[in-house]
Amino acid sequence: MDLPRVFTIRESGHRIHNPLTDDKLAALGRALNPEPGSRVLDLASGSGEMLCTWARDHGVTGTGVDISTQFTAAARARAVELGVADRVEFVHGDAAGHVAEEPVDIAACLGATWIGDGVAGTIELLDRSLRPGGMLLIGEPYWLRRPRDRATIEACWAREESDFRLLPDLIAHFAELGWDLVEMMLADPDSWDRYQAAQWLAIRRWLDRNPDDELAPELRAELSTEPIRYTRYARSHLGWGVFALMRR
Ligand SMILES: C[S@@+](CC[C@H](N)C(=O)[O-])C[C@H]1O[C@@H](n2cnc3c(N)ncnc32)[C@H](O)[C@@H]1O
Repeated sequence: MDLPRVFTIRESGHRIHNPLTDDKLAALGRALNPEPGSRVLDLASGSGEMLCTWARDHGVTGTGVDISTQFTAAARARAVELGVADRVEFVHGDAAGHVAEEPVDIAACLGATWIGDGVAGTIELLDRSLRPGGMLLIGEPYWLRRPRDRATIEACWAREESDFRLLPDLIAHFAELGWDLVEMMLADPDSWDRYQAAQWLAIRRWLDRNPDDELAPELRAELSTEPIRYTRYARSHLGWGVFALMRR
């Protein structure tokens, strides 16, 4: 059980595997201002940057669960680097169906709502770990404008237009499910570039070092086409945000 290698090659240099920058992640932490000692569960925690930096900056404690051995190892190393290894732990595993043993104050899933088969299922999953009155954090894409054709949908990593909603519709969906939106932090084109464009350099450097690897042809083709696809379609059509929710 591991994340396919192609992802860890593309995102080998990323600490944050989503379209928020360090500054935006820190600003979200300041906006939410969790109490020291708050317990956080982060499903699909990636390289653990949210848990580690919020443990350092706000004194939260918590657990991250991720299917990637490489990202989980990076998260553990980051916890040591930031001096918070006694406050956060990172578990390698499938987060689908994962429920905390003790209820948490904040339950998060940033950028992996497939673990609950969509937004509603992921909210339901996170809610099973949440204490009454606690907060959910959901990181999710949304359409900045409706895609005009199939090429736009596919370039935005969707199968169907209905995979994502327009931002007001996503927020209305949270309301329909019985949750108040109490804060949000949205990506912008520059922060998207930190996520996407940073992958191109990682791919190029990997290709230079590994020309004979079995993944080299696929990643060579990707580097030739992806910057054009991204700037033609995704950069102007796809938004992404972290949404903080509290039950009505
Ligand atoms: C877009 S990244 C987001 C990572 C992290 N939340 C962040 O924002 O930096 C998606 C993450 O989901 C993880 N993942 C994918 N499927 C998973 C699963 N079934 N269980 C746990 N983690 C999973 C990947 O390894 C990757 O770290």
